[in-house]
Amino acid sequence: MTNVVLNTDVTKGTINKNIYGHFAEHLGRCIYEGIWVGEDSSIPNTNGIRNDVLQALKDIRIPLLRWPGGCFADEYHWRDGVGPREGRKHMINTHWGGVVENNHFGTHEFMMLCEMLECEPYICGNVGSGSVQEMSEWIEYMTFDGESPMANWRRENGRQEPWDLTYFGVGNENWGCGGNMRPEYYADLYRRFQTFVRNYGDNKIYRIAGGANVDDYNWTEVLMREAAPFMDGLSLHYYTIPGDFWKGKGSALDFEESEWFVTMKKALHMNELITRHSTIMDKYDPDKRIGMIIDEWGTWLDVEPGTNPGFLYQQNTIRDALVAAVHFHIFHNHADRVQMTNIAQTVNVLQAMVLTDNEKMLLTPTYHVFDMYKEHQGAQLLDVSVDSGTYEMEGDVLPQVSATASKNADGVIHLSLYNIDHQHPASVSIDIRGIAGGSLSIEGRMLTADEMNAHNTFENPERVKPEAYTDFTVENGQLTAQLPNMSIIQLTIHS
Ligand code: AHR
Repeated sequence: MTNVVLNTDVTKGTINKNIYGHFAEHLGRCIYEGIWVGEDSSIPNTNGIRNDVLQALKDIRIPLLRWPGGCFADEYHWRDGVGPREGRKHMINTHWGGVVENNHFGTHEFMMLCEMLECEPYICGNVGSGSVQEMSEWIEYMTFDGESPMANWRRENGRQEPWDLTYFGVGNENWGCGGNMRPEYYADLYRRFQTFVRNYGDNKIYRIAGGANVDDYNWTEVLMREAAPFMDGLSLHYYTIPGDFWKGKGSALDFEESEWFVTMKKALHMNELITRHSTIMDKYDPDKRIGMIIDEWGTWLDVEPGTNPGFLYQQNTIRDALVAAVHFHIFHNHADRVQMTNIAQTVNVLQAMVLTDNEKMLLTPTYHVFDMYKEHQGAQLLDVSVDSGTYEMEGDVLPQVSATASKNADGVIHLSLYNIDHQHPASVSIDIRGIAGGSLSIEGRMLTADEMNAHNTFENPERVKPEAYTDFTVENGQLTAQLPNMSIIQLTIHS
């Protein structure tokens, strides 16, 4: 039995909507085919952006999109991606499959996409193989309103007004693909590069320093010690990999019960990582001015058999959906420090929202979690305590159930629950406190499946999708809910 106490009158701060952010890299079929098909494509599109994917992303209220990488960012030279498309330079995407990148999707196309999605752009600049001048001029090109060589060039290329640009990353994974740097060296480079990431006019840029890989606490320590006053955010990357990154990450579809368990365990590890990196950040930034920006997270599994290993195309099951829910509950609990996160990646790459096959498109189980949880964006986090039953395997124990809740501006409460146990249902007793008198009106939605590897295919695109949930009773403010194994529940509570 799991017991939950929900204090509807105790708020714990705002859940930053950017916790539900996304990441789209020039990698495999994420940008090309997944988002950009070009104006002449037979796939229905608006100015080259495919309509089906656009609508799907709008429906989950995507708040923010990170681009152009990832590792690609530290090899990207923005000038190659502006001006008439037919004249743009072709390059080799050395990181991702060695394919030709024709630069048809560049700054103007990305900014247009964000405007169409009504989301904020988060651009990652090139420190690894770029120059200070190149980064500085990109900012000038995008955000300067007056007469200047870069602003004039932007106008020549068809955009009169500058764009609003809030979030800018100064490099990516500079401990690895972004230059194999030591933290001391990167900290100095960060200080130098960010100096020239200027605020033009009213545009105020939130500067994000490249942060640690997983549990490299020394990286966070050095960056905070040497560069904290110069940053608004510090990133962290952590992927849920059931197996071993180099020897075999594990199949997306063909896995055992023990792999399900270990996947949940590794997803839950995010809590320890945030806690320990936060403790270091607290030492230098006790007021929590600097945001922890988890700009890459999600499952990283073996590519689907027969696909290009450099394209990182993987299927997505109810297991991935649970991993997403696990992360959101953790992010909510750290809402005081975690200001943004970006799942990797939006379309056709890693833990994607959407998969495409030319003109076909499907929504993944992970997409549906983003859809259910979008109600938490920008809402007030409510105090919830959970005394969970256990989920056990071979002597290892995890909490079976988790709950998180928020209240929106209209006073509507959304309570999200999950049961990560692949086998056993959970009975959950929820004590709803702080609502005076009257009856509660509660509606439920549930995402679950009959098999651990249940997923959507182009032949059967709606096998895993949310359904109405009614398996609960309410009596005197006491809610009792039955959660099937492998389930995510969202309750909307009107009082
Ligand atoms: O998301 C795929 C890759 O993972 C990114 O390009 C890189 O930053 C990370 O190692």
